[in-house]
Amino acid sequence: MVAEEKKRNIGYGSIFVFCFFCFVFVAVAEVVRFVNPNYDLKQNFLTKREVIVTEAIAEAVVEGSHFVMDSVSPCNSRRSGLPKRKQQGKLEASSGRERPPSTYCIKFESFQTLLNLVKDGKYVSRPFSAGGYNWTYEIYPNGDKRVGAKGFISLYVRIDNSTLITNPQDVYAEIKFFIYNRKQDKYNYYYELEAAKFHLFKPEWGIPSIQGTSYFANPVNGYVFDGDQCVFGVDVFVAQPFKKWEVFSFDEHVSEPIFTWKLTHFSTRFSDSYTSSSFTSGGRNWVLKVYPNGDGYGKENSLSLYLLSESNEKPYVRAKLRVLDQIKSNHVEKLVEGWPNAAENSGWGFEKFVPLADLKDQSRGLVVDDALKVEVEIIAFSKTDSTLNV
Ligand SMILES: *[C@@H]1O[C@H](CO)[C@@H](O)[C@H](O)[C@H]1NC(C)=O
Ligand SMILES: *[C@@H]1O[C@H](CO)[C@@H](O)[C@H](O)[C@H]1NC(C)=O
Repeated sequence: MVAEEKKRNIGYGSIFVFCFFCFVFVAVAEVVRFVNPNYDLKQNFLTKREVIVTEAIAEAVVEGSHFVMDSVSPCNSRRSGLPKRKQQGKLEASSGRERPPSTYCIKFESFQTLLNLVKDGKYVSRPFSAGGYNWTYEIYPNGDKRVGAKGFISLYVRIDNSTLITNPQDVYAEIKFFIYNRKQDKYNYYYELEAAKFHLFKPEWGIPSIQGTSYFANPVNGYVFDGDQCVFGVDVFVAQPFKKWEVFSFDEHVSEPIFTWKLTHFSTRFSDSYTSSSFTSGGRNWVLKVYPNGDGYGKENSLSLYLLSESNEKPYVRAKLRVLDQIKSNHVEKLVEGWPNAAENSGWGFEKFVPLADLKDQSRGLVVDDALKVEVEIIAFSKTDSTLNV
């Protein structure tokens, strides 16, 4: 009876102790969270591998040259949309592709031999050409120590500087590194969305922490296969700067904006249309075109009037077209605005500019002494300069 009582007491005691520790744990977690708002309890559950990666990155940030930091730092916002896990090579299944690399591939018969021969240094491939330059592929099987990536596979490409010495320039290239995985029969790849910039003083670019070396070397993971073989690949796509372009500008200070054209003997103008001599306005050559008896829907009811570009350019144009009132200055005026609206003529104007009846009406003053005066005032137009097929 007494013994049983004692047992029960111990039971209550240990429950109390357990609860106390639970409380302490939660309280500590809260304090940590309070002190560091970015603290995430999930961090406690990171795998060992991830922690190692983070440490290597921290080291790289301290020791590394700037460009390598950029490609490694997990906090770098320029990494854009690519998931970090993928960059660190842990999302193996979904980051692989079946299509082999396009630019260059290296197969090692034995990864272990490579490690033994290269030790903490690098393997440099034979030169290969891509995008008009020569490149080499550099593999650090045990990490690039310069940036503290020891224990990782570091991959770089280096541009042959001989062309850059004679012709110093920036070369932008999209680089994708591949490691073949036999288990998945896929090429896992690692890249950044931004093209890498190469120049004489920065001839190499790479990713220092592609994959942990020991993880890579374990046949269970599929990167070494058939004994101890492994395959590294790279794609180098050089982005050429554009050579075709156009510039759209808008001229609103047109020189010599007004052109007036007098058509004499108007009653004997029996042709379908009459075109003025060319005139220059805003540095461009133009003509006016009149259909005395109408064009299109204006046929036999209206006079049609158009502005045309002499060299058949089709800019945006804002202009006022007029048939002048030669008595009271009560001109017939219409605004054209936009790209050519007259399909047949590729010009700007109106099929029904003024009714034929108004022309015959002597009191309107549009035809005086058998002469008609048409006018254009060019207010603004666009220019498109371009080069094609340089
Ligand atoms: C690339 O290397 C080859 C062989 O060394 C050489 O003949 C060629 O001129 C190089 N090309 C460039 C663009 O450097
Ligand atoms: C060009 O590259 C070679 C080998 O990578 C290097 O030894 C040399 O110093 C470089 N030249 C210049 C001008 O950077």
